Amino acid sequence: MQWVNHFWNQLEEKLRVTSEEIGAGFPYTTKNGKYNTEFANREGITWWTNGFWGGMMWLLYTETKDERYMQIARACEERLDKALDSFNGLNHDMGFMWLPTAVADYKLTRNPRARERGMHAATILAGRFNPAGRYINAWNGPSMVGWAIIDCMMNLPLLYWASEESGDPRYANIAKIHADMVQNIFIRSDGSSEHIVILDPMTGTIKQKLRGQGYAEGSSWSRGQAWALYGFTASYIHTGDERYLITAKKCADYFISQLDETGVPDIDFCAPKTPMLKDASAGAIAASGLVQLMDYVKPDEVKHYETVIEKMLRGLEKNCDFTCAEQSILQNCSESYHKEAGHHIPIIYGDYYLMEALLRMRNKNVLRIF
Ligand code: GLY
Repeated sequence: MQWVNHFWNQLEEKLRVTSEEIGAGFPYTTKNGKYNTEFANREGITWWTNGFWGGMMWLLYTETKDERYMQIARACEERLDKALDSFNGLNHDMGFMWLPTAVADYKLTRNPRARERGMHAATILAGRFNPAGRYINAWNGPSMVGWAIIDCMMNLPLLYWASEESGDPRYANIAKIHADMVQNIFIRSDGSSEHIVILDPMTGTIKQKLRGQGYAEGSSWSRGQAWALYGFTASYIHTGDERYLITAKKCADYFISQLDETGVPDIDFCAPKTPMLKDASAGAIAASGLVQLMDYVKPDEVKHYETVIEKMLRGLEKNCDFTCAEQSILQNCSESYHKEAGHHIPIIYGDYYLMEALLRMRNKNVLRIF
């Protein structure tokens, strides 16, 4: 594991410097090496990635116990209150925003205000559930009624946490119904996943399947596939339901089967190989999910998972910038297949999940956020 420690040490050294520069900001991507921390992202305070920097600071705090990281994380969490207050613009991504911030804070420090924020966020997420259609609605507005997306698997742990914390099963019941729907409707027989499915909001029957951020309808967007394998692993860990473990494994095996010699996934596994478009963030998310899943696979499969995870992380290391001239770490992430301006850029969630994967490799008892 020396290589993991070396990889981690480079990250930590760099973050010691960049955390001072970025402070309680909301970094997304860099331009000429610098983040615009005042909402360079498109939608201001409610943008779905605004929890990741605070989450990175909590992860650093757990590892170093350096109070400066806790202060930055807390300040990010407090700034996010504006999003809870505004309500408008909030969507299915409540988990991505409040699990790495408020819920992490509460798990680590028992801060009662953080608990309130987590429960508030979970209650908003639960309010998006459509009982007739049996799904959590993605995004907002009349044109999005009936939309469900694979990414939302990563928001379910906020609902599991809310039930574990409050003793009220309402939240987890919603998460399980949504996960069952995804298992039946999104996951194909080969283990690949849809990105978007539009459902009839009165019956839950399928109206349309869309390519979303992937290459084409019926193809396989790699970050969606990473959300699926991680999300079902998380659902298994929270519920103990073996069906979710089987699905997580199926999604993981498909993901692994599509990797080339670089260990870094293409944006879409079914897209043409030229131009060769990569998404390192999908690799980081999948690696972190696989490190968790590895604990639950059969003993004779562990070696295979270890080998794949090492190949993936070593591939990601080659895509890291450890200098302080560039504030981001993981390069060559991609927002979506059909958005050229968002190809091969650093994106904050790439750094977040890379940190999480490395910390999990170092210490299985690391703070579980998702
Ligand atoms: N959850 C949106 C994305 O993965 O880009």
